[in-house]
Amino acid sequence: MRDVAIIGVGLTKFGELWDKSFRQLITEAGSKAIFDAGIEGKEIDAMYVGSMSSGRFIGQEHVGALVAEASGFSHLHIPSTRVEGACASGSLAAREGFLSIASGINDIVVVGGIEKMNDVAGASATETLATAADQEWEAFFGATFPALYAMIATKHMHDYGTTKEQLAKVAVKNHDNGTLNPYAQYRRKITVEQAMNSSPVAYPLGLLDCSPVTDGAASIVLCAAEKAKEYTDKPIKIIGSGQASDTLSLHARRDICTVDSTVFASKMAYKQANVTPDDIDLAEVHDCFTIAEICAIEDLGFVKKGDGGKAVDEKITTLDGSKPVNTSGGLKSKGHPVGATGVAQMVEITKQLRGEAEQRQIKNAKIGLTHNVGGSGATCVVHIMEAM
Ligand code: COA
Repeated sequence: MRDVAIIGVGLTKFGELWDKSFRQLITEAGSKAIFDAGIEGKEIDAMYVGSMSSGRFIGQEHVGALVAEASGFSHLHIPSTRVEGACASGSLAAREGFLSIASGINDIVVVGGIEKMNDVAGASATETLATAADQEWEAFFGATFPALYAMIATKHMHDYGTTKEQLAKVAVKNHDNGTLNPYAQYRRKITVEQAMNSSPVAYPLGLLDCSPVTDGAASIVLCAAEKAKEYTDKPIKIIGSGQASDTLSLHARRDICTVDSTVFASKMAYKQANVTPDDIDLAEVHDCFTIAEICAIEDLGFVKKGDGGKAVDEKITTLDGSKPVNTSGGLKSKGHPVGATGVAQMVEITKQLRGEAEQRQIKNAKIGLTHNVGGSGATCVVHIMEAM
């Protein structure tokens, strides 16, 4: 298996982007990444695009070919494939690109992630997102993702004594980080009191426990590591890539507070990278709801099961903590354009490992991890990255 490196990254602003089309967003992110990598169109061997539900959000399927066309590459006939795994679509696309280079088939691959979610009304966005839940066991009975994560939160509070205040502190931290990220949807600070008293969505989760509905795109350029230095003096090697699945519905899991797909995907990535959770300097984790970040830091092995809430109290995961989590603002504050999220996480870790994260830069960051979940955990993809 060959080593693979990231040689270019690009991101659009995240938010309610009424004045930009799907085509414009993916072209902006892709051209920024291609420009950053210093490659030409004719050098690209393949493209992979993560998008969860372009058909329902904007009425457009067949977005693999559309993205190649929008990028101006139709005449090059580059193979371009759309990849779908709910909110993990972006990192699944990155993993497909990674595997195609690792296998020796491709040398240079452009990966994109995109979702334009605000072209439909809020209720319709919620319904579309719920298509990633189990239709027979969950969505049919009205269980949306806020409701499913609320069940996880309630159980976590029951089993481990996690409090609503600890959930609120996750949101406060990520909003703090988001103020330092020019690409974030919500660049405003919030207080614990505001988070705890925000409009109820599904008990115990309030509006400020939720990631928002977001438009945005992200892109990375992957290259065989042996050639990466021909393009950049700061390549970032992907030293571990793990993926795992679990049941679609929560009720069929052995424990709804443990996302086993995270446990298995991270074990696979740690083993490949030959590192332990202690070696990770910083991580972007899937905080679609505040409870999800608490479960993630436990399931990734950063803290013991049940200690996630305590870790938040002890500020372990803040920018100046021992294990900074979601320096970008996370899904909570940066925004969550579902198909783009996994790729955007890799953009953030790349910037951190290159020392280009400006005010949110983590000193001496050497190894970073991304954790991207589809649905309530039926899919999980973990990548571990290191500066070469
Ligand atoms: N965090 C912070 N602020 C938010 C927000 C969020 N998640 N969602 C909306 N807001 C703000 C808006 O900017 C707006 O502020 P303004 O009045 O100053 O303009 C205000 O709150 C109301 O916005 P609105 O769009 O009317 O909210 P809503 O009630 O329609 O939607 C949620 C709020 C939480 C229901 C929606 O963001 C949501 O569904 N989030 C979850 C998305 C999801 O499930 N993703 C998949 C995860 S698996």
